Amino acid sequence: MNNVRPETMKRITTPELAQAFIDEQIAQVRAQVGDKKVLLALSGGVDSSVVAALLIKAIGRQLYCVHVNHGLMRKGESEQVIDIFGKSLDANLIYVDATDRFLNLLAGVADPESKRKIIGKEFIEVFADEARKLEGVSFLGQGTIYPDILESIKQAEGKKAVKSHHNVGGLPEDLKFELVEPLKLLYKDEVRVVGEALGLPHAMVYRQPFPGPGLGVRCLGAITRDRLHALREADAILRDEFDKNGLAEKVWQYFIIIPDLKSVGVKDDSRYEGWPAIIRAVNTKDAMTAQIEEIPYAVLHKIVARITAEVAGINRVLYDLTPKPTGTIEWE
Ligand code: XMP
Repeated sequence: MNNVRPETMKRITTPELAQAFIDEQIAQVRAQVGDKKVLLALSGGVDSSVVAALLIKAIGRQLYCVHVNHGLMRKGESEQVIDIFGKSLDANLIYVDATDRFLNLLAGVADPESKRKIIGKEFIEVFADEARKLEGVSFLGQGTIYPDILESIKQAEGKKAVKSHHNVGGLPEDLKFELVEPLKLLYKDEVRVVGEALGLPHAMVYRQPFPGPGLGVRCLGAITRDRLHALREADAILRDEFDKNGLAEKVWQYFIIIPDLKSVGVKDDSRYEGWPAIIRAVNTKDAMTAQIEEIPYAVLHKIVARITAEVAGINRVLYDLTPKPTGTIEWE
């Protein structure tokens, strides 16, 4: 399969078309891989989850999924990967809790690009450490999708990216694998249809995008464990309220950011210095521009009340109304 989507390729919009695609890819993957082992970095995002489910169907336990918990995941995310892939789908799942490795390296680092680089580099190192422990792996599965291919073409033509995004790439010299990329000609909406046809839960397949560096780019400046914990808890409350109020399907991306600053507040009649939690909720078609979706005031009030009552260390909640441009979607 080359890297150009043929004009004749039908858009996958129905379970039947998805099933035909799955059958075709199962045959292709089996022909490519034979009885060899395939390694896959399984973040739990839509693309890596769908590719994992497809490869499990094609080659079962010849697939080794590595889930690296960098300590910057959202609440419950690694647990969901373990439940779905390790338990329900009976995959060969290698779970690596690398929280301390990442947070120790990030301690005291405030510059956003330095943080991104440290997270990207360490991710590859942790993954490579696991790859070296396995013998006889010849292939690397990847959740590359068509927009990734189009983006690489743009970059090869010299167009500059605003931020350094990270995905698994650039493995060390001693780890040379042939790539298995069954989704590389699909657009995101098609990946979701395929994911549902593979039996993955709707919530996983329609999950909002989450950046590779995770909560690391939302815990602004130098990350501390207490502020990261507050961020994770506040973000879980925001997601819960969006789910309960029917906003999760209407808003493309919504999350909390916590800056490295405190303001004076009051609690139980005493001075209470705390961080502000900032709500970001945007709609976009391609992430190049983004608009602000109106969130009912009643929901906002509920979110403010819950976060300030339930999350230690937060004494204010702010709402970012800035479209992109001028604000990027993430703050770092
Ligand atoms: P910005 O902040 O540039 O984000 O407006 C645009 C979209 O990209 C996501 N994002 C990332 N995705 N790896 C990813 O896979 C990354 O390093 C990364 N950084 C930002 C961001 O969440 C938004 O959806």
